[in-house]
Amino acid sequence: MDGRALAPAGFTNAVSDTHTPVQAVVLVGGEGTRLRPLTLETPKPMVPIMNMPFLERTLRRIKEAGINDVILPAGYLPDAITSYFGDGSRLGLRLRYVIEDTPLGTAGALKNVEQFIDGPFFVLNGDVLTSMDLRAMLAHHREKGGIGTLHLVRVDDPSPFGVVVHDAAGRVEHFVEKPPRDEAPTNEINAGTYLLEREVLDRIPAGRPVSIEREIFPELIRSGDRPLYAYTTDDYWIDLGKPEAYLSAHRHVFEGAMPLGLTPEIDGPGRETIPSSAVRPPVFVGLGCRIAPDSVVGPYTVLGDGCTVESGAVVADSLLWDGVTVERDARIDWAIVASRARIGAGARIGHGAVIGHDAQIPPGAHVEENARVAAER
Ligand code: GDD
Ligand code: MG
Repeated sequence: MDGRALAPAGFTNAVSDTHTPVQAVVLVGGEGTRLRPLTLETPKPMVPIMNMPFLERTLRRIKEAGINDVILPAGYLPDAITSYFGDGSRLGLRLRYVIEDTPLGTAGALKNVEQFIDGPFFVLNGDVLTSMDLRAMLAHHREKGGIGTLHLVRVDDPSPFGVVVHDAAGRVEHFVEKPPRDEAPTNEINAGTYLLEREVLDRIPAGRPVSIEREIFPELIRSGDRPLYAYTTDDYWIDLGKPEAYLSAHRHVFEGAMPLGLTPEIDGPGRETIPSSAVRPPVFVGLGCRIAPDSVVGPYTVLGDGCTVESGAVVADSLLWDGVTVERDARIDWAIVASRARIGAGARIGHGAVIGHDAQIPPGAHVEENARVAAER
């Protein structure tokens, strides 16, 4: 007998049963404005974490949870995503893309893929790095039997996030998106992973942009017929949408707080190319790098493929994408340098700076703290 046949009247087809294969929707249509200039050429989901596009790490995590069917609502620089992943077969997944001509918002994007959704489905914000166990969340959802389950985490400052209030049984009572800092009712926030029953799609209006955080969750709570449940965990969690967070996430991976299965000290396919005199572990090194023995690389540093670090240069606490050149005696500390940029001899890159694709920093220049430098096109 099918478990669904045992559901009480009125709940038929409502509570996901253990036989229904669960699908996943990964929201990848945002413009990533807070990560500019990195996202001028690279859409946020393709920004690398330890030299692998972040979305690939998310898709592998989805696959490991036993989910094979993934829908990707995209819109901003979608070709970078579709050309890299194709039909998903390389990852053992069935991937389907739905490209939005204009952004439909976080719920509008779900309504727009409605025809591909067969039953309960995960929704993942495409910029969240977390070790939360999707299978455990699915089990929790099935146990509670709500219309949806929201993953929550506790943070020090909830104001940049969706703040969620729930009762002792986990029923969500309020959802407030990005409240003023002194008005946040709790420090439990929407961590950007939901498990929703298909009927949630019926509540989303079609044909216009709709925010799940500002419209749909508050409306589901107000209507009150079937509860939304909170699933709060202590797992590692970070939203990668800001440069500071993107840098910090790498440090957390190096320190082991976010498990990615790395070898401590020196890792990456190009680890043999880094002279021991230069390395200050931990570092992660891509293929084909040229590193001078009297340079300094590390700690907490990632080099993409084909980077060059010349004599006397220092690269610490920083992320260099592919093909970056750091000329002699230049210094980079707690900064991000996108693909093919060149840091001139003796230049200084200030804390928190972000250097865009192909940018040329002149020899001897001082780039200020937190500066954003894009190449002139
Ligand atoms: N397809 C599509 N279309 N995707 C979109 C759109 C759209 O119009 N708008 C945003 N997205 C995607 C983004 O690419 C991102 O993966 C995700 O939806 C969330 O958008 P962000 O712009 O990153 O939102 P946020 O970080 O300010 O806030 C959201 O995430 C927080 C947790 O990280 C909210 O869900 C908050 O409630 C939450 O706390
Ligand atoms: Mg975000």
